[in-house]
Amino acid sequence: MSIMVTGATGQLGSLIMEKLEKYVPASQVIACVRQPEKAVNFLEKGFEVRFGDYDQLDTLIEAFTGVTTLLLISSSHTDDKIRLQQHAQVIHAAKKANVKHLLYTGFAFPPKGPIPSYHVHLLTEQMILESGIDYTFLRNALYIDFVGVLGLKEAMESGELPTYPGNWQFNSVTREDLALATAKVLTTNGHMNQVYELAAPNVWDFNELVDVLSELSGKKITFRQDSSIQHWIYSFLAKIDTASTSKDLERLMERPVTTLRESIKPFV
Ligand SMILES: NC(=O)c1ccc[n+]([C@@H]2O[C@H](COP(=O)([O-])OP(=O)(O)OC[C@H]3O[C@@H](n4cnc5c(N)ncnc54)[C@H](OP(=O)(O)O)[C@@H]3O)[C@@H](O)[C@H]2O)c1
Repeated sequence: MSIMVTGATGQLGSLIMEKLEKYVPASQVIACVRQPEKAVNFLEKGFEVRFGDYDQLDTLIEAFTGVTTLLLISSSHTDDKIRLQQHAQVIHAAKKANVKHLLYTGFAFPPKGPIPSYHVHLLTEQMILESGIDYTFLRNALYIDFVGVLGLKEAMESGELPTYPGNWQFNSVTREDLALATAKVLTTNGHMNQVYELAAPNVWDFNELVDVLSELSGKKITFRQDSSIQHWIYSFLAKIDTASTSKDLERLMERPVTTLRESIKPFV
């Protein structure tokens, strides 16, 4: 059996590789990378490294040859049309290379209606279903990183966090938690043809956020709704479901999700 991780040099991929090291011998894990010079540390740890570029079908077929379980980490390309083409190539190559199990990292809580932010993920899932390859859909919730643009550091200095008006609720996760759950899914049985919403079992709001900021800074921080805020993050957040919850992530990790307090520490 061999497990391959695409996007292995990325932030999520490298954490998954780190976790896999704990569960299976390195000789069973292959990193699929488009820049082999970034993957020297994988070779040092005993992982095999293969070149594979989502834009070059031949490289993918060659890379996937002999692979049993393939994790496709969704492309980071900024153009959704290109992302979808890249995913289509990966699925086509997986089929050609006779991959037995294809896992895909999508986005949590896809809506019933057409919302552009989810198109790539839902269409990719659809393509995987049509390929006939056994699958697991790992629908990742919003990375906590989005708090990085909310101005937390400034709020800790000024005592006030300006927020766009609304009844905001957030289900966010750390890559660390996602990587742990993903590594467990990759190395244990019972996940064939399953869909997991890798999200927290609870949501948080700006009240909770300022409480945590107050605790971390040792002084009272409040939030103030301000409709003059013009930040792309709020229009993005308004388009996605950030309020649903799931127990899947905790169940797969076999431990509680990282707390809001711990999650935001790198961003303050
Ligand atoms: N749930 C969320 O809130 C959220 C937020 C942002 C993104 N995402 C999605 O989650 C994915 C993983 O996140 P991340 O933080 O690990 O992203 P990341 O650090 O940008 O990593 C993306 C990985 O994809 C690889 N890649 C990009 N284009 C490729 C190509 N043409 N062929 C082969 N590999 C290619 C990159 O390779 P290089 O190292 O060579 O660049 C990198 O290893 C993202 O790509 C994005 O689709 C989710």
